[in-house]
Amino acid sequence: MTTPHLIIIGASGDLTGRLLLPALYQLDVKRRLPPLRILGYALEEWTPKEFKQHVQASLRQHSQLYSDAGWEGFVSRLDYLSGDLSAEHLSALKERIHGDALFYLALPPSSFAEAARSLAEAGLVSEESGKRKLVIEKPFGHDLASALELNRGLRESWAEEQILRIDHYLGKETVQNLLVFRMANGFLEPLWNTQCIEQVQITVAETLGLEGRYRYYDGSGALRDMVQNHLMQLFTLIAMEPPPLWDSEVLREHKVEVLKSVRPIAVEEVPQIAVRGQYLAGVAGGQEVSGYLEEPNIPSTSTTETFAAVRLFVDNWRWRDVPFYLRSGKRLGKTYSEIAVKFRSPPRRPFNGTPSVAFGNNWLIFHLQPNESIDWIVSAKEPGLSMASRNVTLHTDYTNPGAQFSAYEQLLLDALGGDITHFLRFDEVEWAWRILDPVLAAWKKGKPDPYVAGTFGPKRQNELMLSGTWRNPL
Ligand code: BG6
Repeated sequence: MTTPHLIIIGASGDLTGRLLLPALYQLDVKRRLPPLRILGYALEEWTPKEFKQHVQASLRQHSQLYSDAGWEGFVSRLDYLSGDLSAEHLSALKERIHGDALFYLALPPSSFAEAARSLAEAGLVSEESGKRKLVIEKPFGHDLASALELNRGLRESWAEEQILRIDHYLGKETVQNLLVFRMANGFLEPLWNTQCIEQVQITVAETLGLEGRYRYYDGSGALRDMVQNHLMQLFTLIAMEPPPLWDSEVLREHKVEVLKSVRPIAVEEVPQIAVRGQYLAGVAGGQEVSGYLEEPNIPSTSTTETFAAVRLFVDNWRWRDVPFYLRSGKRLGKTYSEIAVKFRSPPRRPFNGTPSVAFGNNWLIFHLQPNESIDWIVSAKEPGLSMASRNVTLHTDYTNPGAQFSAYEQLLLDALGGDITHFLRFDEVEWAWRILDPVLAAWKKGKPDPYVAGTFGPKRQNELMLSGTWRNPL
């Protein structure tokens, strides 16, 4: 039997060094990586030996599990070929690949279409000698039109089943748990609707700034970088109908259905349903940081948003009139991601004349990172002689240091094993763009509201709330 190949196109880049190779190495050390040859492909005219030295240096820097013994076991899987994205150069891969092959495009988005086309022209897509798959990173397009265009290009030579569109949030343990928690517990389902839920807040906050990705980020902004993909996926998993069976097509069909049910946004109403911000100098993550416009290589007139918040409604029976608030930003006061589900108050609390504290709301909070846990916030009796009450948190810790796999470890293993459940079908991407395109259109004019780095974003985000306030963790 021939050994499958993973071909990383763009093997000298940041994504490969920081995330892909550490994930592959760690799977190997944990004895989870199947037989596999890893073939790096990039412009650098390296020999295989030089490539291996480069990989070893990145693993030392980016993998906490690095050890010389681990490296000795891993290095024999590696090989390298130098070339550009022309079909002529790529066709040299044919002699190296026998059997199944997974091509991972670790490239700038502007090169996705060219690489996919050249692979086809080089005769590497046909499945005569083994299965062929293509992994594509985000961002998939820049807006609806460019996503459709990119997909059209890919589909000229690749079948939909061969294309794995990756969103690393779907590989996160806590994100996958959303499906299990929702759909393996019968008690939740009767509550999971507009009768019992008042609103849902999804926050992905980062203290990080641009991390050197100036050119990409300034052309992208928070809505495209985070909301269109990661937050829309979280929203989808919370709002979708339970699928009848665990089947990648059925699951993805249900995800698309909820996206299609989102109330369309009109460009004119964007100021009422979306808010954007841009950070000013401040203190974030314990250090003094400069404002976005003072960052190196950012034009001083840039109107790129570093914070985006949006209010969505799902016009179906389950969610009628329940607002879903999504927000994400850079240089905020804390790095944390959570989905907070707020329940409606009981019709009446019969505690008049008792020393109860002001009753809090009931929340179910999925802390996705960094403290992976689930909290229920409920009211309970204060122990003692009177009928006093207090708010308590029922806390479940979800961290399990012994069984941790990074999102990339999880998704690479899925891709190698042919499991496409946690990859995006094109219509998921398309509908996420359809929902947010009017916001992008409205934001072509005007500029973002400023916020001081280290706070939780522009004040105007509060105007999105139809009731209550954003939960801020400080
Ligand atoms: C990436 C974005 O997709 O996700 C980055 O491009 C962001 O800007 C990152 O920092 C966040 O991922 P995580 O896993 O650290 O929450």
